[in-house]
Amino acid sequence: MPGDRVEGTALMRVAVTGAGGRLGTALVAALASSGSIDEVLAWDLPEHDLDDPGSAMRLVSRKRPGIVIHAAAWTDVDGCARDPQLAMRRNGTAAGEMAQACVTNGAAMIAISTNEVFDGLRTDGRPYGATDLPNPANAYGAAKLAGERLAREAFRATGDDFAAAALMPPGGRPTTVPPLAIVRTAWLFGPPGADFPQRILAAAVRARAEDKTLDLVSDEFGCPTYAADLAAAIASLVELAGKKGWSAVGGIHHVVNGGYASRAEWAREVLRLAGVTVPTRDVAMRTWPRPSTPPLWGVLEPTPLSGGPLRDWQAALAEYATIRIRTQEPSR
Ligand SMILES: NC(=O)c1ccc[n+]([C@@H]2O[C@H](COP(=O)([O-])OP(=O)(O)OC[C@H]3O[C@@H](n4cnc5c(N)ncnc54)[C@H](OP(=O)(O)O)[C@@H]3O)[C@@H](O)[C@H]2O)c1
Repeated sequence: MPGDRVEGTALMRVAVTGAGGRLGTALVAALASSGSIDEVLAWDLPEHDLDDPGSAMRLVSRKRPGIVIHAAAWTDVDGCARDPQLAMRRNGTAAGEMAQACVTNGAAMIAISTNEVFDGLRTDGRPYGATDLPNPANAYGAAKLAGERLAREAFRATGDDFAAAALMPPGGRPTTVPPLAIVRTAWLFGPPGADFPQRILAAAVRARAEDKTLDLVSDEFGCPTYAADLAAAIASLVELAGKKGWSAVGGIHHVVNGGYASRAEWAREVLRLAGVTVPTRDVAMRTWPRPSTPPLWGVLEPTPLSGGPLRDWQAALAEYATIRIRTQEPSR
């Protein structure tokens, strides 16, 4: 089975697309510090280009990684809403091309996806599980779901019990799982660039300077997830695949920090950690018009990980705060 080819050291050459992005940066660091991975290939523009249909095949054929972790995406959800065709090209079609390049060259693939494949309309208070039916409500989610489906289609020839593998303990998993894992995550924070904690801090500082109240959306829920924690979990999946083969790893995974929060709760925790005091007011998402419609209830149920569940988001954010969330001016 192609997936078994990652066993042993020779093929533990792992490529990361979107290597300069939030997750990609953390992934390259996590993989580089893993003792069982020989070489990390960091791919990004212009070497890997989601707009170029031949880019994935050329790169994978030339560099021959054992695994490709496909983290590259057009993550500007409002941009995706304004140009759904380009969103589909970058987040859908290009993921399928990467999957085909992997299949052709005998490589495995970990495709990074999103909680936005779900519409967020469920009202029973339960998180979305890996076997729940996706139904994206925006162009970004639709394109990411297309990417998942195209990847599964490309890998179908190598094994067909993909869906059945979700949530099964390693011993009970079917043996025909293809060497493809889809890792859905949500609300990533971490360097580089302006993530939600950085943006909310900047907005709070502006509101204070202008003696204004900071509006916080209180009816949109998700799982804040530290990119470094997600990257470590993905590196563990790669190691597990190396040890036990893809029958233990293939399938859909939901990987997020523990717990969930509204945007407002997340924002207040950032402000508390940064020691910034500013009057705040809860508002509904509909008072914040934007081109894309994020899922109101975007909470994912984490799937079991060999190393146990990720820590709660508050603990991860507290660690991040010591590294990056700084008080930008004295509290008053
Ligand atoms: N951020 C979140 O909250 C979140 C939530 C759920 C799932 N995800 C998924 O997680 C993955 C990583 O997201 P992230 O937060 O790390 O995103 P990010 O910081 O925006 O990084 C995306 C990466 O993709 C690259 N990229 C963008 N357009 C490209 C193109 N046309 N060709 C080649 N590369 C291109 C970017 O390169 P440049 O920097 O050079 O543009 C960057 O390296 C994505 O698959 C995303 O859909 C993210």
